[in-house]
Amino acid sequence: MTDGSKNNPGIRIATQRKSLIQGLQQELAVLDQKHLLRQRRTVETPSAPNMKVDGRDLLAFCSNDYLGLAAHPKLAEAMQEGAALYGVGSGASHLISGHSRAHAVLEERLAEFVSPHIDNARALYFCTGYMANLAVITALAINKDTTVFSEALNHASLIDGARLSRATVQVFPHRDYTALERMLQQCKTKHRVVVTDSVFSMDGNIAELGALLAICERYDAWLIVDDAHGFGVLGQHGRGVLEHLNIKSPNLVYMGTLGKAAGVGGAFVAADATVIEWLVQRARSYIYTTAAAPALAHALLTSIDIIAGEEGQQRRAHLQKLIGLFRDGLHLQVWQGMPSDTAIQPVLIGDNAAMLRVAGNLMDQGLWVGAIRPPTVPVGTARLRVTLSAAHTEIQVLQLVQAINRLDQMSYVAQCFAEVA
Ligand SMILES: Cc1ncc(COP(=O)(O)O)c(C=O)c1O
Repeated sequence: MTDGSKNNPGIRIATQRKSLIQGLQQELAVLDQKHLLRQRRTVETPSAPNMKVDGRDLLAFCSNDYLGLAAHPKLAEAMQEGAALYGVGSGASHLISGHSRAHAVLEERLAEFVSPHIDNARALYFCTGYMANLAVITALAINKDTTVFSEALNHASLIDGARLSRATVQVFPHRDYTALERMLQQCKTKHRVVVTDSVFSMDGNIAELGALLAICERYDAWLIVDDAHGFGVLGQHGRGVLEHLNIKSPNLVYMGTLGKAAGVGGAFVAADATVIEWLVQRARSYIYTTAAAPALAHALLTSIDIIAGEEGQQRRAHLQKLIGLFRDGLHLQVWQGMPSDTAIQPVLIGDNAAMLRVAGNLMDQGLWVGAIRPPTVPVGTARLRVTLSAAHTEIQVLQLVQAINRLDQMSYVAQCFAEVA
């Protein structure tokens, strides 16, 4: 019998397709073996502490809805009003016909909100924080004669922005600003851009932005701050890390997300008006994409009002109380809490399989906690990422702490038996 595929291109293509799929199947099997396969769960109720997930009732400690606004009735009402006023789609990109009055008003409101910390402030609304980070890094890394200095624990979107820019990329160790300064001293490129998370998303600790800004000013470098986990949560008025650390500088370019504490979606970049004009002209992930639904921008106006007002202050105060309760209640022998004062309270477990067992055990008890593995965190540092929200009650937080303490205690006993055996 002859091999028909040699003479028949149709058969050859079919065989090739099969082997491409087989290649992916092998890669998926490798991920599975390493306990790195991710799984989506389907949530059937609004984002809130009590959720129905794949048919089960769970108490969730894994959203970034830090102020509990995602299901706020006033925001739902504002979204409906926005849809009635502007429809549900923008219809085009911002530079064609998609830039609506709702986007413009939101940008003015955001600029005014952060203006105590940014002179001559202007803001630009993006579909997502991921896109905002791509935009700002690629646009400010003006050409190949640029070095981007990226914090070791930066979010994936900042890492991808740095990769996408044509700049040289140097990674500086976590919160090691002396090392960064040394790198800046030796830097030969004409332009310099320093990029950091404010609140580190998987650790919960905060960058020392005062020190960082002083260095950036000395070396004429931009400082891009990703405040995804600080905006709305930190600072007396919720202005984020800029207010929390009381900082201000013309070198500062600020990115805040609006799908976490603000409870809706999208993100914004705020900086001197000239920086924003440069982004409008040059930032590809702003220019070449359909503008977000104007109704989202309209709803966000209500969200900013809540964040800036008394209700926001009360929600932040309650959240702070819950953070204290969690930290004081955690008594671990085997695993480790991490030095975080924010709503992100990771519990370091280390091994992927062990961490999945713990997360599974918590879920069996009706508690849903984020199970974070590499590559999101470094190898050997798999962790539970507990996130607290102003929507949680004290009793709910105590329930979680007790469950974690109990499992840690069981793990400690198991270890002792293993050593004796
Ligand atoms: C630190 C950080 N930056 C940026 C983003 C991306 O924001 P968005 O979800 O709006 O794309 C995230 C999201 O998880 C984040 O944690």
